[in-house]
Amino acid sequence: MTPRLRLIVGNWKMHKTIPEAVGLVEHLADLLKKSPPTNVTIVIAPPFTALSAVASALTTHGLFEGTGGGTSRPGSPPVSIAAQDMHWEDAGAYTGEVSPPMLKDLGCRYVIVGHSERRRYFGETDALVRKKVLAALRHGLRPILCIGETWDQRARNQTGSVLAAQLTEALTDVDKDQGADVVIAYEPVWAIGSGQPATPTQAREAHRHIRARITARWRHETGERVPILYGGSVTPENIGELLAIREVDGALVGGACLDPPQFARILAVASSAKA
Ligand code: 13P
Repeated sequence: MTPRLRLIVGNWKMHKTIPEAVGLVEHLADLLKKSPPTNVTIVIAPPFTALSAVASALTTHGLFEGTGGGTSRPGSPPVSIAAQDMHWEDAGAYTGEVSPPMLKDLGCRYVIVGHSERRRYFGETDALVRKKVLAALRHGLRPILCIGETWDQRARNQTGSVLAAQLTEALTDVDKDQGADVVIAYEPVWAIGSGQPATPTQAREAHRHIRARITARWRHETGERVPILYGGSVTPENIGELLAIREVDGALVGGACLDPPQFARILAVASSAKA
């Protein structure tokens, strides 16, 4: 089985105006040019409002991997863009929402779905997450499905059952062929923005559990191809330890991706990590 490529996703959350976003990309492009990472797939998820400007800035630097494939400069991996959320319908009377075709139009290849901040602050349920996963796959967008337990659930020994329920709910009706396009991000809610990442033991255990579930669901071949990312207080200092865990295929980075030197260091460590 070929090793899964390291996948590093930067979730900008609700940060950066258009000029700030372009400035961030310019800085990051500069750093990537100076020391190009290898063996790593890079995705960034700016807010909706900045997606177009970010795609243009990446294109200017020959770094944009749009839906039609890469235009990367030699030696440097291309960067794909992701949206942080989307609606499941193609169009309709849904004030304030953004549809899958709109994201495709902008050149998005990925979309984050079911982030715990959406579940917590916007009442997003597993049933809605499922619709979004299916809509993404229908439109050729790779869903980055976020799952994870709260501290209370962990303290009550419910981590396994919470992850299992979230996976089952979100992936019902996703068949084996579509399964290969899914990315899963294990983000323990208590580790997000807290400066307290999961320990290697906690991460290994959760990732093993998730892998076992998806290989049982889609059979070994597909289940093994699905990247399982870790997210929650990832920094340049702890990414090496996290990627050293065989079961961790990459990271979903929040705060640290807003700082280009930190994000570039994370990519550099990911490049040198053993696959
Ligand atoms: P932090 O890296 O800031 O903890 O955020 C993680 C996250 O929520 C990424 O989606």
